[in-house]
Amino acid sequence: MHAARAQVVAVGSALPERRLSNAELAARLDTSDEWIVSRTGIRERRVCEPGQGLITLAEPAARRCLEKAGVAADTLDGIIVATITGDMVMPATANLLQHRLGAARAWAFDLLNACNGFVAALANAATWIESGRAKRILVVGGDVMSSLIDWKDRNTCVLFGDGCGAVLVEAGSADGNGIIGFELHSDGGPASELCVPCSGSAMPPTAEALARGDHFLKQNGKMVFTHAVRRMAEVATSLMRTHGLGAADVDLVVPHQANLRIIEPTAERIGVPMSKVVVNLDRLGNTTAATIPLALADAEADGRLRPGSRVLLVAFGGGLTWGALYMKWGRG
Ligand code: COA
Repeated sequence: MHAARAQVVAVGSALPERRLSNAELAARLDTSDEWIVSRTGIRERRVCEPGQGLITLAEPAARRCLEKAGVAADTLDGIIVATITGDMVMPATANLLQHRLGAARAWAFDLLNACNGFVAALANAATWIESGRAKRILVVGGDVMSSLIDWKDRNTCVLFGDGCGAVLVEAGSADGNGIIGFELHSDGGPASELCVPCSGSAMPPTAEALARGDHFLKQNGKMVFTHAVRRMAEVATSLMRTHGLGAADVDLVVPHQANLRIIEPTAERIGVPMSKVVVNLDRLGNTTAATIPLALADAEADGRLRPGSRVLLVAFGGGLTWGALYMKWGRG
């Protein structure tokens, strides 16, 4: 047993003001509300103004989280921001956040694990805390997907939205609430099935690359869909088996919000009814690293997430990468 257990004690969130409905998209593209709702479950999403960086959402999300926890920023040991759409490749958005919050003692780095980013960052924070090397870490999941998608491509633009959530992770007693286990996986084989070709050293942003639209997200939707359904159920089941858990040990499932047609079979395969599954993609779409903390914030606001709630997180994303995490929420 570890000397300390990593407790997730508070959540904060921030969304852009602007709502973008399916009807608005249907007015500019060859699509329809009926198609988008029946294929994905998404009705609207929030989008940033052009040029609005992730930090503009990360800072209010972090401040709300710290305020709820009753914790001052200068007591943080570390900040991890999970994102694929940081303000810049360098510096990390975590550094910008560290400065804005006045978290003078905290180390800070970004973590790039696409839609599994928040689960991977939370697992990372848990490991720091269980090792005794940190006592208090702010974990942020946020993405400005509107900056990465081709608004003329109906295959992708209807799916995504912008948002950010933050949780505070603290050292607690080894047999109290907190993160009990997690499991992470990667498979780089099908990497090109979901990628942004012109976004790094392999393809610098030349005029030709930009003219081709290679700086936009590309995906093989069907292939990603099939993998997501299989992998999310697989990793959740495996984690539950490792810890001897049955469906009755789960009060709330908080899955990555990509498509209702991915979430429903995942719940069915792990034997948990949809009444225990948090779904907010109808209002927010797929916000990549932000989906899970935004869903935690919603569940807390509507009273479904309370201290002691037994929560299963499960995610899948580009990489490919996938993971699950089981915890008892809150201090105690
Ligand atoms: N409106 C209308 N038609 C659309 C459309 C839209 N917004 N987007 C795609 N289509 C069309 C395609 O052009 C294609 O037409 P064609 O058959 O004439 O070529 C057809 O719809 C595709 O239909 P289908 O393949 O049956 O769609 P689907 O049921 O696989 O749903 C996705 C497509 C993208 C919603 C689905 O594959 C998906 O959710 N994939 C996973 C995406 C994801 O989660 N990515 C993030 C990773 S975490």
